[in-house]
Amino acid sequence: MSERTPLVAGNWKMHLSRREAEDFCDRLIVPPPPEAEVVIFPSFPLLPAVAQRLENSWAECGGQDLHPETQGAHTGDVSGPQLVDAGCSWVLCGHSERRQDHGEDDDLVSRKVAAAATHGLVPMICLGETSEERKGGRTFEVLERQLNAALRQRPRLFALAYEPIWAIGTGETATPEIAQEAHAYLRESLADLIGAEAAAVKRILYGGSVNPETAAALAAREDIDGFLVGGASLDPEQFSSIIRCWG
Ligand code: PGA
Repeated sequence: MSERTPLVAGNWKMHLSRREAEDFCDRLIVPPPPEAEVVIFPSFPLLPAVAQRLENSWAECGGQDLHPETQGAHTGDVSGPQLVDAGCSWVLCGHSERRQDHGEDDDLVSRKVAAAATHGLVPMICLGETSEERKGGRTFEVLERQLNAALRQRPRLFALAYEPIWAIGTGETATPEIAQEAHAYLRESLADLIGAEAAAVKRILYGGSVNPETAAALAAREDIDGFLVGGASLDPEQFSSIIRCWG
């Protein structure tokens, strides 16, 4: 019996105005509550408005990134305590767009994960290979390296999001077979790091062009415990139908 409650997250990236975000929340948060837990990751300026709209609802919100330090002279960055103060309970760490656009390496991701844990935020740790790495047969090697680094400080609470870079924003969802294979590999690697019992209850989400058409077949796979959704999370109807494919 799996103790893994499905978890569906929406990564809004650098989209939506405050009014659009509030309207989205009003349309999403309707009864009945879904079977899955839900987290929305809006951009920083939207956080207070979204947190207020989601208060006492079945959805939570999180930050898209955080700085490893608690405070200081870091222009443009946001700290863990500031995210908590804005109503966040989760934070994305190591999203491939941060790794690519901002040169985040494994060491920085590891420090961000540790900072999240210190401040009581649950890190959603993103991992995934490029298309060249997959074609070169290096997928597992890359996942292993990213996983080992991200969990160096052994946080107690976290979720993983397997996001193959070739599937993000491309419309090319990984097949359920490909995703399941990577998730099973990640769970085995997790078992080596934190023990089989702890690994068995950790949630591993799939991300990369998930949409209402591809969600159900992915959700049916044993080691796929939810989704990190980008594009389709910007539309409340599409996002809702992905959330409600669980249960
Ligand atoms: P996508 O983005 O669903 O638009 O591919 C997923 C992500 O980047 O988290």
